[in-house]
Amino acid sequence: MAAKTHEPTPEHKIEALREELRHHEHLYYVLDAPEWTDAQYDQRVNQLRALEAEHPKLVTPDSPTQRVGGKPKDGFVKVAHSRAMLSLDNAYNEEELRAWAERVAGGLAASEVVRYVCELKLDGLSLALQYGPGSGGEAVLKSGITRGDGTVGEDVTSNVRTIRSVPLHVSAKELKTSGLPQDFEVRGEVVLPQKAFEKMNEERVAAGMAAAANPRNAAAGTIRTLEPNIVAQRRLEFFAYFLLREGEFLLHEQSEGLAALRGAGFLVNKEARMVGSIDEVMEFIARAEGIRDGLPYEIDGVVVKVDSVAQQRRLGFTGKAPRWAIAYKFPARAAVTKLEGVLFQVGRTGKVTPVAALAPVVVGGTTVSRATLHNPDEIVRLGVRIGDWVSVERGGDVIPKITEVVEDKAHPRGTEEIVFPEVCPRCGEGLVREPGEVDLRCVNVSCPARLEEELRHFASRGVMNIEGLGESMVAQLLGHSLAEVEAADEPGSENPDPGQSEEAVADEPTRKALVHSIADIYGITKEDLLSLERVGEKTADSILAEIERSKKQPLNRVLLGLGIRHVGERTAQALAEEFGSMDALMAASEENLKLVNDIGPKVAATVREFFENERNVALVERLRGFGLTFTAEKKERGTKLEGLTFVLTGTLPTLTRDEAKELIERAGGKVSGSVSKKTSYVVAGEEAGSKLEKAESLGVKVVDEVGLLALLG
Ligand code: IVH
Repeated sequence: MAAKTHEPTPEHKIEALREELRHHEHLYYVLDAPEWTDAQYDQRVNQLRALEAEHPKLVTPDSPTQRVGGKPKDGFVKVAHSRAMLSLDNAYNEEELRAWAERVAGGLAASEVVRYVCELKLDGLSLALQYGPGSGGEAVLKSGITRGDGTVGEDVTSNVRTIRSVPLHVSAKELKTSGLPQDFEVRGEVVLPQKAFEKMNEERVAAGMAAAANPRNAAAGTIRTLEPNIVAQRRLEFFAYFLLREGEFLLHEQSEGLAALRGAGFLVNKEARMVGSIDEVMEFIARAEGIRDGLPYEIDGVVVKVDSVAQQRRLGFTGKAPRWAIAYKFPARAAVTKLEGVLFQVGRTGKVTPVAALAPVVVGGTTVSRATLHNPDEIVRLGVRIGDWVSVERGGDVIPKITEVVEDKAHPRGTEEIVFPEVCPRCGEGLVREPGEVDLRCVNVSCPARLEEELRHFASRGVMNIEGLGESMVAQLLGHSLAEVEAADEPGSENPDPGQSEEAVADEPTRKALVHSIADIYGITKEDLLSLERVGEKTADSILAEIERSKKQPLNRVLLGLGIRHVGERTAQALAEEFGSMDALMAASEENLKLVNDIGPKVAATVREFFENERNVALVERLRGFGLTFTAEKKERGTKLEGLTFVLTGTLPTLTRDEAKELIERAGGKVSGSVSKKTSYVVAGEEAGSKLEKAESLGVKVVDEVGLLALLG
């Protein structure tokens, strides 16, 4: 009999490709030492994709093809941490650091040697990753949870999976060499590298959205984005720093934990060092300050941890922080410069923001010539005048801020008062300050400044995602020449002598505008586009195709694109799911709007107000005419608790308050914050306070968690 040749089975081929890809991902994203080009990597991933498509049964969630998966349908679920995610006490100078070391020594026996692990304090947000057994001896990523309030965080697994430095899979071999079981927990910091942060802000600004203040805020916003493919594009990084199992440290030393994490394929910051004295800690800090500006991510200090876990246990915790670790914070980066003038910028919602024009000054390695003054109240609070010397801070922020006026002999007071304009600097309409608000707004819905920002927002990636309709294209559609656009782009050129000038943006357009509202985007013709500068056949066709494609964007994106005040990504999603169609939303009363999860009275009022305005309704009708998506899948609601109102009080044994609320609302019930005669049930847990008393005095029925679950059936 002829010997059979052994063709590898599809299982084998797939597993071999996966292993190869994992190895190269690790080289690229963790060790920063790639051996493949991007094209080589893409080619192999595509090969794997093709094989998986042929054998869908063999697709596993830890495959390198499975980084971007389904969206979290109902927002993020709250999850309790295995052990509280505490914060750290801070030290701001050597003296405070030494005082901490003395407290540490005081908490241990006199003969004990203390070693410290020094790590960079990464300026991001902490995450807990849970790993559990896979089918063949490996560990696979099960979930990723934000810190939240330290006790309960949000399950952001779908987004965490997109972070390339988070292994989806730790092989049996890696587990063995690093001494890890199949189930463990990793804690660490998720950061947005400086470059990715700048790119994200460029896109946001181009889309007419406010720039994120600093990489930390940007990372926090990104990790809570409801679209994993957007998260994947942002290139977050995860640095691991703790290894736990069932809420306890898994190894005997922090240094050992870092080594094990590295061995298991996690990204561990390579600057971390073990030292034997506070002098050496101070040396580490000095070195960290030295390399700070050259790092690809922001740090705001150094974290010092007692190495021995046995010593950590004996030192224990104060209320909110461990006694065995401390954060040494770098001083804020500030400089003194002169306020030369103030510009007034009009945003998408008509908000007028005063922007300080400063004599250029270097703050923490970056030249700063603009700083936000936020609003008129801030100007009063600072008591600042044009010509004043001011202190500017840039605590990792892109938008520096003025913290105070400097007043001494070397820095005489300025003379010119800052006068807030009474009319819009772009359209001349009177500015309005709504009761209870600090901002002044231009309420002219046709104000060109607002329209420009609205168009950018509408076309931006996170909204209707019309590629090609960026900042300069929008300006051209509004009648500006490219020369005008470029002139406005040059730093400082929008206003060579800011003084009291109110002209913050480009000049009056030289040509007739092709669009006057966001709906006009859908009426743009090829001839229109060809009449613009530097637009050829190919560009025109691709923009038109993009515009057409955007009609398929779901209702939540359309709602976001309308630019209703206070309606961000999450609210738009909630509204689309709750009402299921534009018509139902337009017909919803303020009362009905308030019943939607996460929608408060302020949002309910602005949504209602938006649809009461005839011009807005006309705009919506035109969009309908162009065939945009006006329906969505409605979130199913039960009817079991219809017509009943619940008040939650105290701590329930297994459900968090949000979970209980969610369950009630899904069953058609309402949850209110205060007890009245109209309350149907008070759900009381441990340490229920005055609400329980009130329920008893009003004769309202009281149930516990078991009772609630019984009502829910
Ligand atoms: S240890 C109880 N290590 O700083 C232990 N934290 O100010 C707390 N952070 O919430 C965490 N880099 O988000 C630790 N190498 C590092 C860190 C670090 C940044 C953050 C973390 C924490 C905050 C406390």
